[in-house]
Amino acid sequence: MKTAEIVTTVEALRARVADWRRDGRRVGLVPTMGALHDGHLSLVAATQSHADRTVVSIFVNPAQFAPHEDFDRYPRTLQADAGKLGDTADLIFAPSVAEIYPEGFATRLEVWGPAAGLETDFRPHFFSGVATVVAKLLIAAMPDVAIFGEKDYQQLLVIRRLTADLGLPIEILGAPIVREADGLALSSRNAYLSAEERVVAGRLNLILRDVATRLKHGDPVAIAEQFGRSDLLEAGFNSVDYVAVRDAGTLQPVSDPSRPARILAAAKIGATRLIDNLAV
Ligand code: PAJ
Repeated sequence: MKTAEIVTTVEALRARVADWRRDGRRVGLVPTMGALHDGHLSLVAATQSHADRTVVSIFVNPAQFAPHEDFDRYPRTLQADAGKLGDTADLIFAPSVAEIYPEGFATRLEVWGPAAGLETDFRPHFFSGVATVVAKLLIAAMPDVAIFGEKDYQQLLVIRRLTADLGLPIEILGAPIVREADGLALSSRNAYLSAEERVVAGRLNLILRDVATRLKHGDPVAIAEQFGRSDLLEAGFNSVDYVAVRDAGTLQPVSDPSRPARILAAAKIGATRLIDNLAV
């Protein structure tokens, strides 16, 4: 099967995008860290209805990993990724760390608003690392549209905010979460789970659905969150970072029950940290 061309420099990326623009094509960007699965591929498919040409970036971004996190063992599978994309992508941008962060690099974006709380309480530098690399990728590719998964719901809102704040003329789209049959959201990190842990992992989404049911039946937010947390521990998660019901647009605590809300959770099984979320 035909696979997309792989470029590793911003210069080569810009040259290809400039060619497409000269032909009047709309360009879409799908930023990823590789180890592609059907969740990533759904973003590529979704881009095709918004753009004529699709760039997939594959870059394991050191700036968003804390020293104790899994940067070194994060799966790097470029050739297999290119095979999975086949001809659904037109170009793969797979830069080296030095291409994105050359010697002397000394800039980092600081993000507030939707970045405050939740993930930031447990990974304090995560969103500034994500924001820095996503800004660089958006500026390098200058697509018409970039697409991100709701799997990382807080990240999606942070990226929407930063794109507006930096005045980048790029439409940011969100795409629904792709799940396994038992509800587990697809994630490159699921590969770390043992067979037993994988069974426990499948409970995360079911428990979030129970929290949603409780809210629908009129349980106060704090009670529903507390049940979610204790159900996760009982299911076999060894620690729960948060189970939180938040305003879906701002991620602030819910004050107006008529506005859309989102249940967000992060919990660990062994050394593996899983996140998930659900609209209510
Ligand atoms: P990564 O974890 O590789 O995810 C890339 C994109 O795929 C993100 O937008 C993520 O939300 C989406 N995604 C992952 N699993 C999904 C699923 N099960 N269903 C739908 N979409 C899914 O997120 C990152 O990389 C990085 O932080 C990045 C934005 C690339 C910046 O480094």
